[in-house]
Amino acid sequence: MYQTIITDLQNHILTITINRPDKLNALNKTVLSELDMVLNEVYENTEIRSVIITGSGAKSFVAGADIAEFSGLSMEEGMELAIKGQNIFFKIENAPKPVVACVNGFALGGGCELAMSCHFRVASENAKFGQPEVNLGLIPGYGGTQRLVQLVGKGRAIELLTSAVMIDANTALQYGLVNHVVPQEELLQKAKSILDLINSKAPLAVAGCITAANAVFNERQNGFEIEVNEFGKCFGTSDMQEGTQAFLEKRKAIFTGK
Ligand code: COA
Repeated sequence: MYQTIITDLQNHILTITINRPDKLNALNKTVLSELDMVLNEVYENTEIRSVIITGSGAKSFVAGADIAEFSGLSMEEGMELAIKGQNIFFKIENAPKPVVACVNGFALGGGCELAMSCHFRVASENAKFGQPEVNLGLIPGYGGTQRLVQLVGKGRAIELLTSAVMIDANTALQYGLVNHVVPQEELLQKAKSILDLINSKAPLAVAGCITAANAVFNERQNGFEIEVNEFGKCFGTSDMQEGTQAFLEKRKAIFTGK
């Protein structure tokens, strides 16, 4: 069905693997539109409770936007490309289900931006992060200037953005860019075990946490008001009735996502 991504749904976790290993999984137009399509499935399919995004092969997560597609673009076309990429990455960030990046190697340029649009990141020991756009006379266009500042702070972000220096997985861990660093062969399992735990919680409450946390970075929203709304909405769910009742009855809650 897809040409450049592989999808696999197991135990309510959808694993999306970007599959252009000969080009280090660079994001060309096809990858971007297939990501866009699979995200619609993520939003709509109730069998999917959480998502992993990773890259094919042992070397690269995603080594950036496909540089071959940049040549000959006008300023307007450059802006259109950035808007298109940003919108797809907003779709990841605003997904009502946790999306985790399993960074299995190079996460450069658009690859680092893709990882940063996910709700959190787990990296293998060989992972490398960087925004090398200035080497090409460019800046990040898929949200990287914003999310890198949000995740690592302005000083570190501006140093990384302007120097194009790559950081290794342990530095990324120290910067707070990734939550965990594990040997490559344990990468997917680590993310799956975190997601299995999250998937055992009330899905609408999980979605509410994501919505409220995202509001911190949305200037058009008051995060505390969003929290009030999301908290209130929980009281209208049968899962909240079940969760509180189960606690009082000293049994495990059975959530239905309603
Ligand atoms: N866009 C298009 N093609 C890319 C790519 C990208 N972002 N990154 C890697 N590739 C391609 C290479 O052109 C090469 O293709 P070829 O075999 O047809 O020549 C293939 O992937 C393998 O990459 P190669 O450079 O040979 O691997 P390496 O191990 O020597 O170097 C990197 C790895 C990641 C350091 C290097 O590929 C690189 O610097 N990539 C670009 C990173 C970048 O600037 N990203 C930001 C883009 S905005």
